[in-house]
Amino acid sequence: MEYSVKSGSPEKQRTSCVVIGIFHNRRLSTAAKAVDKASDGYISNLMRRGDFEADTGDTLMLFQVPNMLCDRVLLVGCGKEREFDARAFDKVMRAASEQLNKSGATEAVTYITELALKGHDTDWKIRRAIIDTEESVYSFNQLKSKKSDQRRPLKRLILSVATRRDLPLGEISVREGMAIASGMRLTKDLANLPGNICKPEYLAEQARFLKKAYPDLKISILDEQEMEELGMGALLAVGRGSVNPPRLIVMEYRGADKKQKPVVLVGKGITFDTGGISLKPGEAMDEMKYDMGGAASVFGALKACSEMQLPMNVVGVIASAENMPDGNASRPGDIVTTMSGQTVEILNTDAEGRLVLCDALTYVKKFDPEVVIDIATLTGACIIALGAHASGMLSNHSPLANDLISAGKASFDRIWELPLWDDYQEQLDSNFADFANIGGRPAGTITAACFLARFTQKYHWAHLDIAGTAWKSGKEKGATGRPVPLLMQYLMDRASEQAKT
Ligand code: BES
Ligand code: MN
Ligand code: ZN
Repeated sequence: MEYSVKSGSPEKQRTSCVVIGIFHNRRLSTAAKAVDKASDGYISNLMRRGDFEADTGDTLMLFQVPNMLCDRVLLVGCGKEREFDARAFDKVMRAASEQLNKSGATEAVTYITELALKGHDTDWKIRRAIIDTEESVYSFNQLKSKKSDQRRPLKRLILSVATRRDLPLGEISVREGMAIASGMRLTKDLANLPGNICKPEYLAEQARFLKKAYPDLKISILDEQEMEELGMGALLAVGRGSVNPPRLIVMEYRGADKKQKPVVLVGKGITFDTGGISLKPGEAMDEMKYDMGGAASVFGALKACSEMQLPMNVVGVIASAENMPDGNASRPGDIVTTMSGQTVEILNTDAEGRLVLCDALTYVKKFDPEVVIDIATLTGACIIALGAHASGMLSNHSPLANDLISAGKASFDRIWELPLWDDYQEQLDSNFADFANIGGRPAGTITAACFLARFTQKYHWAHLDIAGTAWKSGKEKGATGRPVPLLMQYLMDRASEQAKT
């Protein structure tokens, strides 16, 4: 889809559809008032008759509105004006694009981006409008034999800004929004692929693809032998249960001065998690194809950085393996030596994410990172604690934690911090190795992070547990593209921080 910004009054738009917002109690937005005036009270008449309540997300398509140059006017309910917030904005944008896509309109001018929103500026609204629209038109049908594509989908969305002076900045916001949305699309596409297609080598191939599109990226892919030489005993142990060998994928994006230390993103890339010998129960096991959601978000973030040419240095590292039960798989009780030299007793082969991540986290020291953020669908316990609304976050450095929390609020891709107190560490005690890979049922998300914390002491680090947020279950099953918006907000915030110094 194409996006652009424009300023101008709605009655003058020669387009297939003009989209305007209406609040509760017949309160018309500025654009709706303009349409009402031009059409001699067409909108207010209709409201008076009670044809449109304007609950958040309600829509009504109008045709042949008097004195308008456009073919259609789409009314979108925005709820109570005083309660119009980021959540309502998302709902309104999605409802509008759904209707537009169903209608025959191929182009639309939306005035929703002009509505005042507490705490968010035009820049935010434009970016968000694009992300929301891409969200509602997304479908994953590449593996269906009959592609049921819309016959006349929306092709061009023009986002209105209040004055001509807003145009130059608006254009930048469009570029940023499109970059983030295209990163999210990549994240969703990769995550939605089934395990029989998306294997560790497939992810490696994606890195090579990305380099083709953005030649400035530097990529390297480590195979089993190279990991052997580095002593990555934990990552290799997970991979050994599968005929599809593990990969460590490294992608370096350099958008800033060479001397600037990079932000390193580490993604869990378990392309399918059966649990291994500690086999999972069958129910919803198909969803374990999403166990590479962290890796997919690293791809998405790097793509977005490349697309918007963000002036930052960012390194993406993906620890990829398939967790299968097999003659060569690890057994409960096995002891492995990690790249750090620390030994681990694998008491449960289903706690494999931390095993692949710990070696990647040791490996990334070589990049002399400013900060390291790992992203992982790590624990079912995180879904119990936070559900689908917030990702879990644990960190060994409170300024980093606070930056991420703010970025989560700003991007509406929210996280919630859990404590990384030493008190929890003893749950990992082992009688036979330095420590175990599980810490029992209490505080499962925290003990998983405690495990990782033993490999991240030399740098500032945060861990994002996205088990509840990376995909939706049920009828709407599908990847969400999270936490790409959060990661990009964080990176963009840092970039503008650095521009100041
Ligand atoms: N990938 C799972 C976590 C998960 C489960 C994410 C369900 C989303 C939905 C992870 O590898 C895992 O199996 N974790 C175990 C850890 C336990 C054995 C300590 C879990 O959460 O049950
Ligand atoms: Mn597991
Ligand atoms: Zn897993």
